[in-house]
Amino acid sequence: GAPVTQSLKKIEPGQQLIVAWRSLPVFIVNRTPTQLASLSKQDLRLVDPKSDGASADQQPKYAQNETRSIKPEWLVMIGICTHLGCVPDFVGEMKPEPFDPNWQGGYYCPCHHSRYDMAGRVYQGVPAPKNMAIPPYHFVDDTTVQIG
Ligand code: FES
Repeated sequence: GAPVTQSLKKIEPGQQLIVAWRSLPVFIVNRTPTQLASLSKQDLRLVDPKSDGASADQQPKYAQNETRSIKPEWLVMIGICTHLGCVPDFVGEMKPEPFDPNWQGGYYCPCHHSRYDMAGRVYQGVPAPKNMAIPPYHFVDDTTVQIG
């Protein structure tokens, strides 16, 4: 599939845009400072907090950091649940039932209730085995990202 170029100019803080790349939904999120701060609050409840276990193949080198991204605020991630392939809902801080009260919000898979944080890292106690994948991408300039 051809690379996809996307302007980030109209994505407000806290918003997600979904673009198609190789027939896959790619989530692009402008994470707020609160959402970024939530990433360090939940390590113990994540299956693979550093994505160095089962998720190692899901994360390129440039995303091997706590935010799983090139720029902290911009999450660029393949929006496919690692359980059976549904597209998780971006819920941000809103947490649908049933939820772990310690969950800081992020993504919720409607198919079998898997929960992920704002970096796509999966929580313990849900069917999804690993973190959602980070695709190949880079910044063409300050406000343009290219996927693929
Ligand atoms: Fe997401 Fe099963 S496909 S929890």
